[in-house]
Amino acid sequence: MCGIVGYIGPKDATPILIGGLKRLEYRGYDSAGVALIDRGALETRRAEGKIARLEGVLAEQPVKGHVGIGHTRWATHGPPSDRNAHPHLSTDNTVAVVHNGIIENADALRKELHRKGHTFRSDTDTEVLSHLIQELFEGSLEEAVIGALRVVEGTYGIAVVSSKDPGKIVGARKGSPLLVGVGDGQYFLASDASAILAHTREVIYLNEGDLAVITADGYRILDINASPIRRSVETIAWDLDAIERGGYEHFMLKEIFEQPQTVANTMRGRLRLEEGTSKLGGLNLSHDELMAIDNIVITACGTSWHSALIGELMIEDMARIPVEVEYASEFRYRNPIVTPATLCIVISQSGETADTLAAMREAKRHGARTLGLVNVVGSTIAREDDGGIYLHAGPEIGVASTKAFTSQVVALALFALKLARKRNLSVTRGREVTQALDLLPNQIQAILDQADAIEAIAESYKDVHNFLYLGRGYNFPAALEGALKLKEISYIHAEGYPAAEMKHGPIALIDEKMPVVFIAPHDSVFEKVVSNIQEVKARGGKTIVITSRDEPALAGLMDHEIRIPETVDMLTPVLASIPLQLLAYYIAVKRGANVDQPRNLAKSVTVE
Ligand code: G6P
Repeated sequence: MCGIVGYIGPKDATPILIGGLKRLEYRGYDSAGVALIDRGALETRRAEGKIARLEGVLAEQPVKGHVGIGHTRWATHGPPSDRNAHPHLSTDNTVAVVHNGIIENADALRKELHRKGHTFRSDTDTEVLSHLIQELFEGSLEEAVIGALRVVEGTYGIAVVSSKDPGKIVGARKGSPLLVGVGDGQYFLASDASAILAHTREVIYLNEGDLAVITADGYRILDINASPIRRSVETIAWDLDAIERGGYEHFMLKEIFEQPQTVANTMRGRLRLEEGTSKLGGLNLSHDELMAIDNIVITACGTSWHSALIGELMIEDMARIPVEVEYASEFRYRNPIVTPATLCIVISQSGETADTLAAMREAKRHGARTLGLVNVVGSTIAREDDGGIYLHAGPEIGVASTKAFTSQVVALALFALKLARKRNLSVTRGREVTQALDLLPNQIQAILDQADAIEAIAESYKDVHNFLYLGRGYNFPAALEGALKLKEISYIHAEGYPAAEMKHGPIALIDEKMPVVFIAPHDSVFEKVVSNIQEVKARGGKTIVITSRDEPALAGLMDHEIRIPETVDMLTPVLASIPLQLLAYYIAVKRGANVDQPRNLAKSVTVE
């Protein structure tokens, strides 16, 4: 959601903090700020809006120092404004705090601190932390932070500096990620490795409840009793190129075009073409355990929830195990039927979505085994699940998820295949799927090669106010995802519906101003979808049809046609989603929208 970066070392912290914040800007971008210890005094600079505004403020009022923290915000408490931007200072201006997460007992603490004479200068929950730390300070910043964290309820990833204990930065995590970067004579704190990757690839992922103290000479990791703990240093596998735009106008476009490689990466070393199955090293499920699963719950949010719907169809179709798909936010607050024979699959690009993490913990409490389908290596879900399948799609920066979605669907296909082949799926059917999976990267490339034609279609529809997306079977979730992509980045109202269900309501909306995107590859429900296209055409609607071969039945029914290659039914949503992503992207760009940072959205929602 929000982003944190901290630096201590021989260089000037300001450019390092700003560089880190720019890398994190995709996580939250309504305001930003830095705090540095400048010749013994604490100096902050903050600005509403993008990091570029903060740079403007810094150009007018420069600040230098070797110790500093920075933050980019996605508002939860209090509207975006200069005064609500982090860092937040204590009453005596000696403590500065940046914070991701929510302090749930902030109101009560605020009243108490107010009584003790503290003056609050923002509407945020975070500010109570800086005052509390000032209140508890007796010479050691880490001890004061520990004291404050004992009192607060809620979730946090924090970084704290104080002019009274100037040679260090204290970080802590509970419910919001934080890592320590270990450089050559310099140390970092960050909520996300991309913030510090330009300086080091050596990181320590903090565990829940850990504190970190970084100084110019090294780092210490402590528990809440200030006892030292050991954590291993890990090396990040990807490099700076992976998080840069590489000549593309937007991260989203780059990520769409990366999909031939990212889908191949998800499958690398995992496809068993001849045996018609997959090899998944991280499941941590023995043969007997896999056979003992009698029901599956898949839980996720947003785009990941759409891939879950596709996974449900794949697993039920091939492995014949009942599957429930639940929004993580709903699952965690009801009384789900989960037993030790339940496998709970948790899907999350970031591995940090608060609702998804909470749902996974809830499933664990009920005794279920958990399996995480996660993209970000070392993320909280990946660390807490019982087993997992990493997507290996590389960092996804565009807020609207694209390559993570196709990799999720492919990972679900690999898992469904493994489960089904262990149970009752024949090698012949298994091979049909493995062969189709093997063809996907080239097929995706063939669709990307038509980007210009899709851009031309986008031109015709950039000024409409509504869109309908229809599909059946495996492509009903693809319709939901297509509609979500469009509304997220273009702000056009769009709905996804099962094509036949249209008759029960949305058909009332159809007129010559209503474009309808049909996802109609040649699968087992193709003829049914053709009837639904006829129903739209009969009412004057405009149709954009994604289909996979020449078909007389479609003659005269398509205002625009987009061709995708043929594949097995269960993989059609992977191919269909490519033109849907491109269509949304080009429409949004033509409307002048900021596709990488759409309004009000955040890449990773680490609050409820
Ligand atoms: C946010 C993002 C979506 C994403 C969802 C779930 O809402 O804007 O693009 O699909 O979170 O994120 P996750 O990281 O758990 O897949």
